[in-house]
Amino acid sequence: MGPFPALDAPPDPALGTALPELLTDVPGPEGGRWIDVLADHECPAITARRARRAEATGVGQDPVVWERARGSNVWDPDGNRYVDLTGGFGVCSAGHGSPFVMDRVKAQLDQLVHGLGDAFPGRVRIELSRELARLLPGDLSQVIFASGGAEAVDAALKTAVIATGRSRIVAFEGGYHGLTLGVLPMSHYRPGFRAPFEGVTGDFVEFRPYGEPVTLEASDPPAAVLVEAIQGRGGERVPPTGWFAALRAECDRVGALLIVDEIFTGFGRTGELFASGTERMDGVVPDLVTLGKGMTSGFPLSACVGTAAVMARWGRSDGESLHTSTFLGHPVGCAAALAVIDLFDHHHLLERARALGELMGETLGRLGTVRGAGALRGLVIEGDTMALCRRLLAKGYLVLPSGMEGEVLALSPALTMTEVQWMGAVTAIAESM
Ligand SMILES: Cc1ncc(COP(=O)(O)O)c(C=O)c1O
Repeated sequence: MGPFPALDAPPDPALGTALPELLTDVPGPEGGRWIDVLADHECPAITARRARRAEATGVGQDPVVWERARGSNVWDPDGNRYVDLTGGFGVCSAGHGSPFVMDRVKAQLDQLVHGLGDAFPGRVRIELSRELARLLPGDLSQVIFASGGAEAVDAALKTAVIATGRSRIVAFEGGYHGLTLGVLPMSHYRPGFRAPFEGVTGDFVEFRPYGEPVTLEASDPPAAVLVEAIQGRGGERVPPTGWFAALRAECDRVGALLIVDEIFTGFGRTGELFASGTERMDGVVPDLVTLGKGMTSGFPLSACVGTAAVMARWGRSDGESLHTSTFLGHPVGCAAALAVIDLFDHHHLLERARALGELMGETLGRLGTVRGAGALRGLVIEGDTMALCRRLLAKGYLVLPSGMEGEVLALSPALTMTEVQWMGAVTAIAESM
């Protein structure tokens, strides 16, 4: 057997290739007790829940508490087994808890858990920086590591500002780049995310319609254009052919940097290792690219990678670096990323992702309008997507909506999901629509 299940692998809970098995209501009694604790001790804005002790006033549904996960299966504290159609927000490129990745992680835990940020680099961080340069197209060769996706976008924006001496940013309607204070102004998806913070987020961002012709003001050009290769949370939206080529030309015309956020689309999600430099983006290579999610298959590590020419504009550190963080290039995350890269290099994970992506496109096409590419798909829903998600949860399928109006059923499973699991999901979706 290879380091991950084949597309035609049979159901086996030990490998995470099983179908759902529900032993209790969803969520079950033990999960419910944990939700009560959550209700007492986590900021109420974080996890949507029905107030268990005040059901009359509560809305929504209690979430499923995750106890353990393997491959595409997740178990809750009541022993219910689910199939994860979100792939852990598109993170689990090699599946949840991939034994191949975990072996490398465990070896790293024995070796070095924590480095010293900018001051003293861990060796695996150096190795990963070289690997990213090898895999990314064009001259994208110098990295700033971070922990979460938004932090990597933050680093890319700082790079653009320092490289151009300008401060305006052009971003896109429906775009999502994270919710830290620095990145929040560029995340157009859900205006409600930004509204309470308008007093501290400034007005240096201009939104343009995604996929429509872009003209940049030459007299007051922006530092950068920030764009997703395919809009993920915005509803798996794919821009038309030629759009990225025109955007690149427009950036070049006014000297703005092109930042492509591949946090969702990177590491095989669209059927290419990265969208940048491929036909999907008209062969366009950005000045800066951001990576995260699938890079590690589960550890919080992200990266902003730029050309050496752009990165040089930061100047050299004289010991007090202009940009760093305590966990910069965390060794365990770097070891996980190197393992994931090994799966793409030597174990055909990209071919596996493509096969799953084709199956997804073909089978979803029978149910309605499908968006996206590869294993990043959205099914446009006429009715109430949240209600559909709840019906799917009741059948043991974990799934989330996407799109500005929540009009899309978002599907970004582990790249290693099996055909049996996927076809089970398609049947469940068809029955629940
Ligand atoms: C394209 C894109 N960029 C950035 C982010 C933010 O990443 P994080 O949630 O790790 O901060 C996301 C998260 O969904 C994303 O999809």
